[in-house]
Amino acid sequence: MRVGILGSGLMGGKLGTIFARAGHDVLFSYARSKEKLKKLAREAHGNARAGTPAQAAEASDLLLLAVHWSRVEDVLRQAGDLSDKIVVSCSLPMNADDTALVVAHISSGAEELARMVPKARVVSAFNTVPSEVLFGVYEARRKATRPGLVYCGDDESAKDMAAELIRDAGFDPVDAGPLRIARYTEPFALLVAQLAYGGTGSPALAYRFERLG
Ligand SMILES: NC(=O)c1ccc[n+]([C@@H]2O[C@H](COP(=O)([O-])OP(=O)(O)OC[C@H]3O[C@@H](n4cnc5c(N)ncnc54)[C@H](OP(=O)(O)O)[C@@H]3O)[C@@H](O)[C@H]2O)c1
Repeated sequence: MRVGILGSGLMGGKLGTIFARAGHDVLFSYARSKEKLKKLAREAHGNARAGTPAQAAEASDLLLLAVHWSRVEDVLRQAGDLSDKIVVSCSLPMNADDTALVVAHISSGAEELARMVPKARVVSAFNTVPSEVLFGVYEARRKATRPGLVYCGDDESAKDMAAELIRDAGFDPVDAGPLRIARYTEPFALLVAQLAYGGTGSPALAYRFERLG
């Protein structure tokens, strides 16, 4: 898959590296320095390069959106036309100091994003795990008991591609349904963050869903 990374920080940097190591073509974009993007591409040890959001949009089948909510409009403007592109968003609609969701209950960040890019095929994924676990899960991906990762979206073929990336990253994809379910997965992501960073837990947190009976 040709994957463009829009936002090459903790999530985008790590997931892009994992996707490149899993054999995908990755283009890192959107950081404050070009040097950082080039370094990420070099150190991915896969098929990876650095570029601009517009180049990422042009050259990719699927884009990972991994910026703070306050940067979404800017990165989308720089990316340009996203018609027919799959946009997998791990961006949560957080306020400036990351203490609360600014979209919730009757909508979600994922649904707001879908309204911003009406011709794109939006999937919400990866935002319910702390970035700290990503490399560990990838390295342990052949274990029988893999952590789960919930995702949702309205376009089935876009979801199939997202599920492939989720598997490549070492997780069991858990299809939570249509994009409106992001109203519940986004608050769930805050629960995970609270357990990982707020209490006595640690960021080394990934979850499994067990079917009982
Ligand atoms: N981190 C997690 O564990 C986690 C978990 C679940 C969901 N999320 C969500 O994922 C999204 C990304 O989080 P993150 O932790 O990866 O954030 P991050 O590390 O801050 O990454 C955001 C990226 O945006 C770039 N950026 C910010 N301002 C910019 C500007 N003015 N011009 C160009 N680039 C700019 C940053 O550049 P630099 O690299 O130069 O700083 C960075 O590459 C957020 O919506 C967050 O809520 C994160």
